[in-house]
Order: sequence, then C-alpha cells, then structure tokens
Amino acid sequence: MPIIYSLPLKKANGLTFDIEHLKDAVVLVVGGGGREHAIVNALSRSPFVTKIYCAPGNAGIAEKAECVPIADHDIAGLLDFVREKGVNLTVVGPEVPLSKGIANAFADAGQRIFGPSAEAARIESSKDFAKTIMAKYGVPTASYRTFEDFDEALAYVKEQRFPVVLKYDGLAAGKGVTIPQDIEQAEADLRAMLLDDRFGKGKVVVEEFLTGPEFSLMCLVDGPRVFPLALAQDHKRAFEGDEGPNTGGMGAYSPLPFISAEEEQWAVEHIMKPVAEGLVAEGTPFRGVLYGGLMKTPDGIKVIEFNCRFGDPETEVVLPRLESDFFLMVSAIADGTEMPEIKWSDDATLGFVLASKGYPGSYEKNHAIEGLDPAPGVSFCHMGTRSEGGRLYTSGGRVLMVIGRGKTLQEARDKALAAARKVRCDNLFFRSDIGHFSL
Ligand code: AMP
Ligand code: GLY
Repeated sequence: MPIIYSLPLKKANGLTFDIEHLKDAVVLVVGGGGREHAIVNALSRSPFVTKIYCAPGNAGIAEKAECVPIADHDIAGLLDFVREKGVNLTVVGPEVPLSKGIANAFADAGQRIFGPSAEAARIESSKDFAKTIMAKYGVPTASYRTFEDFDEALAYVKEQRFPVVLKYDGLAAGKGVTIPQDIEQAEADLRAMLLDDRFGKGKVVVEEFLTGPEFSLMCLVDGPRVFPLALAQDHKRAFEGDEGPNTGGMGAYSPLPFISAEEEQWAVEHIMKPVAEGLVAEGTPFRGVLYGGLMKTPDGIKVIEFNCRFGDPETEVVLPRLESDFFLMVSAIADGTEMPEIKWSDDATLGFVLASKGYPGSYEKNHAIEGLDPAPGVSFCHMGTRSEGGRLYTSGGRVLMVIGRGKTLQEARDKALAAARKVRCDNLFFRSDIGHFSL
C-alpha cells in the first residue's frame, strides 16, 4: 500500500522535510532490465510521482512507465529528453552510463540525477582503484597486486597458492574475473587479459582466494552519509549447486538469516562508511547506491567487489520489502537533504531468474513466453522481454525473474517455484536451488 504523506512531513525530532517541491514529480529511469523494473515499481508506489519514463525499458516496465527508445548510454539523447519533457529526477540503473559520466553531464546541465559521478563510479569501473581505496582506508579485503606487464604478473602468480583470483581492471560485464586452479590456466587467462586484450587494454588485479558465503549490502550514500538497505544474497553461477560459469546473477533472496544485525552493523561501520568517507577525502564524493559485494570469511567480513549502482537481481527482492517512500529516499540523496526513516517489511522475498538456454554464452532470442500467472504473493520482473501483437518474447540472456513473497523464505520460495514452473517457453532454464544456503 502506498504511504500517503501529509505535507509538510514532521520527523520525531521536529525537523520538517522540505518536500513540497517534490510533488507531481516526473521521473526518468535509465536502463531496461529487471533492476529497472523493480525501481519503476518502487517509484510508482510513491504518491509524489505522477509520471515515469524509462529508457529504453522493456515489455514489463511498459505496464507502469512510458518506455522511450533511447539507449541507456546515450547521455546527450537522455539530456535532450529530460529537458524536453520537464523530467524532475533521473534514476540511473546500469554502470556503463555512470562510468561514462551521465551524472557529471546532468549536474553540469542543472538536472537532478540519482547516481555517482564518473570519478566516484571508478569504485566499480576500476578494480585497481577500488583496491587502492580499500588499502588506504583500512577496509578488509583480499590481499592483491596489480600488473600491466604479462611476465611480471606470471612470475608473481607462480609464487602464489592456488587457486588465485584474476580480475581485469575495467568494466567487463561480469566476465572479467577468473579463478584458475593451476598455473597453466592462470597463464592462459593472463595472456587473454594482458596480451590479447580480451576486454580491451588494461591492467590485471591478482588477488588472494577467499572462502565463505557471499552477500550484498547496498547502501544509499551521499558523501559521508550512509543508509543501508536490506541485505540480499545473489547466486552468480549458472547451474544448480553453484556450478558452471559466472553470470550476472541467477536468483536472489532477502532477508539473510546467516548475517546477524551486529554483523550487518559492523560491515556498515567498517566497510561502507570508511569507503564513503574515503571517497570524500579523495575529492570524489559518492552520491547514489554503493553496492558492497561482501564475503563472510573465517577471518571476518571482507570485500569481494564494489558496484556503483543497484545490484541485479538483488534489487528485485529488496525493493518489494521496502515500506518507505523510495522516491523520497532517492530524492534525499540526489538533493543532499534529510533522509526519511527507512522501514522494511518482515516478509521474505525470493526470486528465480529464467534465462535463455546458452546464457551466459550465446543464446537465441524471440522465443514466445506464456503462462505468467499472477498468483497471490507472486510478481514478475522483466529482464529481457519484448512484446509484439500482444504476445511476449524473449529478448535477452536473463529474461524474467519470478519473485515469491511470504512470511518465511520457504514460503516465498514455494510460491516463486510454483509460478516459475508455470511459465511456458521452449528456450528458458532456471536454477531451482535459489536460497539453498539459508533453507
Ligand atoms: P566480482 O566480479 O569481483 O564480484 O567477482 C565475481 C565472483 O568471483 C564473485 O562473486 C566471487 O564468487 C568470485 N570472487 C571474486 N573475488 C574473489 C576472491 N578474492 N576470493 C574468492 N572468490 C572471489
Ligand atoms: N548481482 C550482482 C551485480 O549486480 O553485480
């Protein structure tokens, strides 16, 4: 149910939110996947939002927003669009436009935007930058060294205990990390990254291999101010039992029974806040969502990676649990104003990603999809769909996320699984073991 605020809104401490000017907002969401579908859904629940555009959007998003055919990285085109339509706030989903400077361009043009500058987005777009910040500000992470030269990298790797972790320094659509088990594989991977420029010219971070369950802690960040969102766990590997290649994520759930409130607080204080403060001290303050990909190792919680945006598919299970007004929250970050109280439902959410056969490798598109059954406690986030003549077709690697909601994770899973099994398409697969670590 939407929360209807009476204006002006009073906080318990007597402060008044200056939100009168936020009424009748027109919002643009940049991106076209499941994450953006979840963001559009959350914005549409706000009584302040009267119109949502999404560029480029997808078939599911089109039910709540007007989709416009502008690519998510076409910064000039997006800027023209917000000027023409009188958009009050732009919310950016993917990392590519952020690392290309969409927030810089919008700020220069006096347009309100939720998302970090290209300089702050380096926390995701350069693994070496992220490791340097962590080392400088005492944030726990795997030990590492960075190399540009193939022979030096290989000599270093030969001295390490296997497996080692190799990370291409730049953006690589989730494919820039390998975990070679022996020196032959490590040499081949280093060759691909440093000599054959598989992802373009760049450096490689060689990292210590850590063990333990991974989880995602997303925080709304405005300079040194850090507001944690509910925890979620993603499942990166393509196949059941955490086998197969890394993907963008095959499913997620929230909350997490294996992380206590104390551990979460510890991670906010010792990981997220020092990084936010460090970025301020470096002259590149972060404004947007800082995503901590964390691991609970036998030696405590450590950072695996940072992202400069909402996680996908974590956002699809986190935002449905939010009871506060998402639009007011992102506005508070974009404007540097008071943050409303952030409240969460006790319900659990769990979602299965239905992906095209062959993903994360090559896959076919344009297979018809049927059987999206709107059962109670079930929702769908479209990730890669398009509609034509009233029918739905696959148009991407990750196609749909089927999300269940219940009093427990088990109940959420049962609902989502029943609904996922009803989806009819001859070219989709999913992992039925999402949540296995906590069920
Ligand atoms: P990243 O893109 O940095 O998140 O890496 C992709 C995946 O590789 C992570 O989700 C982890 O499962 C794995 N990984 C990355 N770094 C490490 C590490 N230092 N130790 C163990 N696994 C890692
Ligand atoms: N789910 C992992 C990511 O968004 O990068």
